[in-house]
Amino acid sequence: MKSRTKGVAAAILGTLGLVLSGCAKNAPQDTFKPEGPYARKIDNLINPIYLIACLVGLIVFGAVVFVIFKYRDRPERANELPAQIHGNTRLEVMWTLAPAVLLLVIAVPTLATIFDLAEEPKDAVVINVIGQQWWWEFQYPNIDGKGTTVVTANDMVIPAGVNVKLNITSRDVIHSFWLPRLNGKRDAVPNRIHPLTVKADEPGEFWGQCAEFCGLSHANMRIRSTALSAEDWDAWVANQIKPAAEPTTDSAKAGLSAFNSQCAQCHQINGVNQAQSVPLVAGAAPNLTHLMSRTVFAGAMFDLKKQTPECAADTGGMPTGTSVECLNETDLRAWLRNPPGEKPMAATENRGMPNLNLTEQQIDDLVAYLSTLK
Ligand code: CUA
Repeated sequence: MKSRTKGVAAAILGTLGLVLSGCAKNAPQDTFKPEGPYARKIDNLINPIYLIACLVGLIVFGAVVFVIFKYRDRPERANELPAQIHGNTRLEVMWTLAPAVLLLVIAVPTLATIFDLAEEPKDAVVINVIGQQWWWEFQYPNIDGKGTTVVTANDMVIPAGVNVKLNITSRDVIHSFWLPRLNGKRDAVPNRIHPLTVKADEPGEFWGQCAEFCGLSHANMRIRSTALSAEDWDAWVANQIKPAAEPTTDSAKAGLSAFNSQCAQCHQINGVNQAQSVPLVAGAAPNLTHLMSRTVFAGAMFDLKKQTPECAADTGGMPTGTSVECLNETDLRAWLRNPPGEKPMAATENRGMPNLNLTEQQIDDLVAYLSTLK
């Protein structure tokens, strides 16, 4: 009896916890708050269907409770034989037909939405999205109309109010790309390209994450997407197609040589080194050419910028209109010191960034150099 009471209490507390978690004010991955036309189409579909499902659920649960109560075991009727019946054709036909008709009714808007979402828009900005353990790469082919491809990571920058066509794939295992406020999930499967279109109504930031279990840091494989106004988008593109900044200070120059000796085998900085065939399972590490134009690093697990009182009004290469913040040196240094200590990774199996045993001097120099890559 005691353990039963405990079980009931645990069930009630668990349910209450789940219900209350739905009240969170700051829920950036709330799929019920669409911020673009594609997510809105899904929302418009799910709301009426959810209502129908609730109604059916209420009727079924109500009937079960009614039957449990009405035909419960009663001592005064213990010897009574219940009424003996042999089926009821009319009822049976009804409860077979009603769900079938209901499913048919639901199928009409569902199929329409599926086909609607699968339509590929013309005049879209194209981004190749590549998942790998445990971060996302974003390639912008021919972004300037002159054949230039911009390669970035973790932060997916898009123009607001414009269709963005994503070609989603993977370099290792199956991942799933999901920005709940902009569209549904799409699996990232090696050797396959899955299209998905997103569009944000307004400039803003959108969070998402990998939605297919993909190993140790699946939960840390996040996506931050920033939608920019037309003007900011043009500025962002203009900055991205530039080659990497040249180091000017002694410390930054030492950082560049530390990069060449320690990092260049896996990471590319345009104009500094050429991506090689790296020993990682995925075969690629984030391109760092304009690292400081991003807001997050290590699979969007850490903020790259942090507002501190000492922080001067330095935009860090971010377009106007975005928050003015300084480099988050604490987390970046901790990351350079021991990446597998900061994020679960199977680095010894070439999945994720290994500990390079950098000296404190190398870390100082690398931070000085990386912070120039705006
Ligand atoms: Cu990638 Cu889960």
